[in-house]
Amino acid sequence: MATSATQEKVHYDSVDAIPLGEINVANPYLFQNDTVGEYFTRLRREDPVHYCAESRFGPYWSVTKFNDIMAVDTNHKVFSSEAKLGGIAVQDMHGIEGALELEMFIAMDQPKHDQQRKAVSPVVAPSNLLLLEPIIRERAGAILDSLPVGEEIDWVKLVSVELTTMTLATIFDFPWDERAKLTRWSDITTASPETGIVESFEQRREELIQCAMYFKGLWDQRIDQPGGNDLISMMAHSPATRDMPFLEFLGNLLLLIVGGNDTTRNSISGGVLALNQNPGEYQKLRDNPALVSSMIPEIIRWQTPLTHMRRTALEDAEIGGKQIKKGDKVVMWYLSGNRDETVIDRADKFIIDRENPRHHLSFGFGIHRCMGNRLAELQLRIIWEEILKRFRFVEVVGEPERLLSNLVRGITRLPVKLHAH
Ligand code: HEM
Repeated sequence: MATSATQEKVHYDSVDAIPLGEINVANPYLFQNDTVGEYFTRLRREDPVHYCAESRFGPYWSVTKFNDIMAVDTNHKVFSSEAKLGGIAVQDMHGIEGALELEMFIAMDQPKHDQQRKAVSPVVAPSNLLLLEPIIRERAGAILDSLPVGEEIDWVKLVSVELTTMTLATIFDFPWDERAKLTRWSDITTASPETGIVESFEQRREELIQCAMYFKGLWDQRIDQPGGNDLISMMAHSPATRDMPFLEFLGNLLLLIVGGNDTTRNSISGGVLALNQNPGEYQKLRDNPALVSSMIPEIIRWQTPLTHMRRTALEDAEIGGKQIKKGDKVVMWYLSGNRDETVIDRADKFIIDRENPRHHLSFGFGIHRCMGNRLAELQLRIIWEEILKRFRFVEVVGEPERLLSNLVRGITRLPVKLHAH
């Protein structure tokens, strides 16, 4: 019998007291109260490729060590991302009544994946990022200049959400005054009713259809104007994407919105929190602002904005000595791999001047490795450069609130006070 959400709230005094077979790291409450790390530490130590036989997500394997995760992520011939087999998250979107089944290239296997990725990837090519940099910098500066100094504000709402939505509006050339729509569509794409973001899958479906209609309008305008540098123009004109079925078009747009929104947003919030929890690192940064360039990848490792990606085994396989059967659900817990002390030096510490800060799993590996990783780093670097110019201290003055989700590692509220130089 499937475990219900209420049963998942059952609390043990110590993680070590839980029988190994009962551990279910996909329980979203463990992410909301930020205790999942203790579970991962135990699994990495005692059962790095762990089988959970019963959960409301069905049975699934958890892969928790860095090198085992790499082995799965780089073996796309055996470990499929295909939506029809269940897709890329432990929560199987396929088959939920009322849910809209979106087609995105993150959830496609070859050869279709490559064709579609190729069509949209020029928007994040280095040459295009150079064009975007001054616009992002100017808009980021304006947002930061509008903030009140010395008063308690919610950093998530006023800064992280604003800055990431602004970048998205820039890469889509989205009508500026309507940009809050992008935030909403991003939030609902990864939401299930229990998050409180939508009331039902039907509501989510309806809002996503409105989103599709809106983008269809922009698409229709831009199809007549070739040569645009924005993402919608590129998709409207590329032979690989221009004749896409409707749900696929919507899926790929939403992939770019979610890819560029939730993840970067939570990295901005997570960075402020990590610096406050590690005042020595904050001081290092004040003393040497050039450390921003190694701090950004460290923030992305530390936050791990997407906790996992899931695959489905296309044939029997072995990982870490365990026999995976054809059809099994295999979850690569990036959040755990990023704390694997056998691969990352002092993995449980936030260190902004690490020697090899890009050695992390937050962007995945293999053919699906994040397409927007350079854009994400660019955006975060600009934002931190602009923050450091203006504020001596972004002080966290209350407890962070976290998202009830086992996929997006989100901070929903972060009270801060700004101190000028
Ligand atoms: C794929 C993380 C920012 C667009 C992915 C994957 C992860 C990820 C884990 C899947 C990798 C895998 O399966 O191996 C992140 C993080 C970000 C971020 C942590 C920010 C800190 C962005 C941005 C964009 C973006 C800004 C916007 C362009 C995509 C796309 C894919 C993807 C299109 C699908 C790639 C494919 O299937 O080939 N991202 N992402 N991401 N990301 Fe990001």
